[in-house]
Amino acid sequence: MKVFITRRIPESGINLLKKHHMVTVSKKDRVLSKQEIIDQAADVDGLLCLLTDTIDEEVISSLPNLKMIANYAVGYNNIDVSYATKKKIPVSNTPDVLTDTTAELAWALIFAVARRIVEADSFSREGKYEGWGPMLLLGEDITKKTLGIIGAGRIGTAMALKSKGFDMNILYVDNQKNERLESELDAQKTNLRDLLKKSDIISLHVPLTDKTRHLIGKEELDSMKKTTIIVNTSRGPVIDEKALINALKDENIFGAGLDVYEHEPKIPKEFKLLDNIVILPHVGSATKDTRSNMSMMAAENMIAGLNEEKPPNCVNPEVFG
Ligand code: DGY
Repeated sequence: MKVFITRRIPESGINLLKKHHMVTVSKKDRVLSKQEIIDQAADVDGLLCLLTDTIDEEVISSLPNLKMIANYAVGYNNIDVSYATKKKIPVSNTPDVLTDTTAELAWALIFAVARRIVEADSFSREGKYEGWGPMLLLGEDITKKTLGIIGAGRIGTAMALKSKGFDMNILYVDNQKNERLESELDAQKTNLRDLLKKSDIISLHVPLTDKTRHLIGKEELDSMKKTTIIVNTSRGPVIDEKALINALKDENIFGAGLDVYEHEPKIPKEFKLLDNIVILPHVGSATKDTRSNMSMMAAENMIAGLNEEKPPNCVNPEVFG
């Protein structure tokens, strides 16, 4: 069968797919428009796409032979899953393989913001360092502070577990009780309002849905401590960027670390002018091993789906009745 991959991904999965199917990879190393996807994937049976591709009703209904959509990401808000389900097309994602990698990046952002690493690096490079200073680049401590996890799923749990060496007090918000966090870290399940008020560090790990869009806005930022650090490695629209810009400008919180943006890839110019924010280009899962494992996982999902079997990481299993 024919499979189209919307952008070059690590070879591991492409090579595996090539053993089973005729594979075409987009020659353009950039995000394709919807029309480009429709044109290039017109007669394919399988579409291996990225979180940057919009796979909505228009795209799905324009690909008459489509039998399987394998997303190269754990998040799948870029795909109209309910329409795919209606058309009986399985959709898969790449969970687990990127859990620790993304959790590590959340910690990298926390350290970068708390200890003003990026600012300090620029300061040193610019030749401004003239000797140790008692008031130079003072940051915030992490050890023994309160860590608030919003969304204690796979990545949120891994992120919290990595706090073990820092003797932190853990709060979390989730629809479900997280037995592991409660038994291993003595974590407390609470409500959003309580978490925002008490946490020194807040890490976002929710999927993007209608309920989580702008979960963090002006009111939520206003309820945080002046010393709070917020990091987002989930999806940009979970934070109202205008509200965050105001909170950072007014120094209502200590700082923010973002890997994702409301209108990605657009990063507001205000963020670029502020010192109390660290901004990364959506590199949560960007290690060689993880990206290669994601490639294999997407390929395995595709092979199963095209074989009319339930893909190991199917997000709409109802397709199989
Ligand atoms: C995902 O897989 O959803 C991540 O955002 C990739 O970094």
